[in-house]
Amino acid sequence: MNDLDIREVKFQYPDGQQALRGLTLGVAHSERVALVGANGSGKSTLLLHLNGILRAASGSVTINGVPLTDQSIPQIRAWVGLVFQNPDDQLFSPRVYDDVAFAPRYRGLPENEVRDRVQHALGLVSMEAYADRISHHLSIGEKKRIALATVLTMDTRLLVLDEPSAGLDPRARRSLITLLQSFTKQTLLISTHDMRLAAELCTRAVVLDAGQVVADGAVESVLYARELMERHGLETP
Ligand SMILES: Nc1ncnc2c1ncn2[C@@H]1O[C@H](COP(=O)(O)OP(=O)(O)OP(=O)(O)O)[C@@H](O)[C@H]1O
Ligand SMILES: [Mg+2]
Repeated sequence: MNDLDIREVKFQYPDGQQALRGLTLGVAHSERVALVGANGSGKSTLLLHLNGILRAASGSVTINGVPLTDQSIPQIRAWVGLVFQNPDDQLFSPRVYDDVAFAPRYRGLPENEVRDRVQHALGLVSMEAYADRISHHLSIGEKKRIALATVLTMDTRLLVLDEPSAGLDPRARRSLITLLQSFTKQTLLISTHDMRLAAELCTRAVVLDAGQVVADGAVESVLYARELMERHGLETP
């Protein structure tokens, strides 16, 4: 059974923009998949379907064997750790600590365990010193790291990251890659324009164009296929 099965998903934004046009994608447990595609190809729209923030007009989304429905969304959100492209969509508490504490508190963990998890997650992104800072005063790169920490408090089965390296300085980007490489049991689906990160971290690459999968295969055969990449507005690593 796949961790993630998307079948023939179509989605249109309220203004009529058709963002996903019958998209099908399966991801097995503990795979590391890079999702690449030009601006507007539908990457973020697709990722927002994986925990029910956006709902397909037709087709189906199945996580860990469970079809995504109104009833299953709470269960599915416990399995899928989704980090938004824009960290301002993720961070809404006055204090960094409370943003990172949100998921373990929501799951009803005792406050001493919440504290341990927050400290651990902040440590993973080298942001221990930021617990008492005001989230919306942080720089973009700092916010990106805190946004990642918010999903690292829970051991989610799938990590779904939308442009995780955008805005990071070289040291933070390198430690992000090292951190993600250390997650050997989780399934990773990472949308990115950082082809070198994709090549280093992932074993499989999926190319989107105009809301459809146009290539899917081993990283070496997709990301390094110059003609294919250029045809879809991309470059080789
Ligand atoms: N809220 C919205 N309302 C209307 N159209 C939208 C909205 N969000 C995205 N779109 C459109 O849907 C399409 C897919 O956008 P999406 O954000 O999924 O692309 P993307 O592949 O993530 O791009 P990027 O690389 O720039 O992050 C685009 O044509 C975009 O203009
Ligand atoms: Mg996007």
